[in-house]
Amino acid sequence: MSARAFLAAAMAALALSAPAAAQQPIVVKFSHVVAENTPKGQAALKFKELAEKKLPGKVQVQVFPSSQLFGDAKELEALLLGDVQLIAPSLSKFDRYTKKIQVFDLPFLFDDIAAVDRFQASAKGQELLGSMKNRGLVGLGYWHNGMKQLSTNREKLMRPDDVKGLKFRIQASDVLEAQFRALGANPQKMAFSEVYQALQTGVVDGQENTWSNIFSQKFFEVQKTIAETNHGVIDYMVVTNAKWWDGLPPDVRKGLAEAMAEATAYGNQLADDINASDRKKIADAGKAKIQKLGKDDVAAWRKAMEPVWKKFEGEIGRDLIDAALKSNS
Ligand code: LMR
Repeated sequence: MSARAFLAAAMAALALSAPAAAQQPIVVKFSHVVAENTPKGQAALKFKELAEKKLPGKVQVQVFPSSQLFGDAKELEALLLGDVQLIAPSLSKFDRYTKKIQVFDLPFLFDDIAAVDRFQASAKGQELLGSMKNRGLVGLGYWHNGMKQLSTNREKLMRPDDVKGLKFRIQASDVLEAQFRALGANPQKMAFSEVYQALQTGVVDGQENTWSNIFSQKFFEVQKTIAETNHGVIDYMVVTNAKWWDGLPPDVRKGLAEAMAEATAYGNQLADDINASDRKKIADAGKAKIQKLGKDDVAAWRKAMEPVWKKFEGEIGRDLIDAALKSNS
């Protein structure tokens, strides 16, 4: 074959293979740490369904729940390295990337998830989605879980004095560390996937979490009492790698953003119901006692945790705290 004929044949082969290559779907790996039967688990599956419907043949979304692919310690790093394209860590897990998001961890800041929702939808809340762009992270939306309850392996759990000296597992958050220190307890940062065993073996005495996490991780089977404190919130920010997101073909980025908005609305509507029904399942199981608290008890927890606000006001900014407070109706 002459050189010219060879070149022509090679170019023809290239022309044939180019459209075929362009049709390979973009694989979007979505890793998270909770079970599928939770608000985040359900929203992630809904996102997959919607994204693949909106972008047929163009994207394939693979969801990895329960720390199967990456756990707490690695998922943000993995996102920045491009090993995964979407994650949704709790808002407590970003403090290495921005101090501002710590606002969500301040104890007794929000009355309920409706208030959290209003704050997230406000200008200040929306600004936070872009607050880590300089670190290579873009927030695509907030996903709800619910309010946190406190659990221990002790019978009595009514007042702050009841947790003095106890060891608590906490998420990797300096605010939460300060919160338990203010109570005279010993906080220990630990990945979510390790909590059940740590509670079971007595490495820690207690933890704080939402009803859906306490149920789906079976924490209620290895704790004696769960006090209904509603003292804080576990919500999520869905984040992606800024470089990857900006490099997507515009139609794919648009389709994924739409799927994200719809999955967010879907999951956020489910979150309250899942937590309420998981609370009931825990009560029905009769393993851990659910301790209701009176107004005075709640006031005592609030007072004991109060010093945390002053400690972090400088890092977070008074403007954010005020905006969050304003969202309580
Ligand atoms: C926890 O670590 O307790 C939670 O943030 C887990 C989760 O993602 O809900």
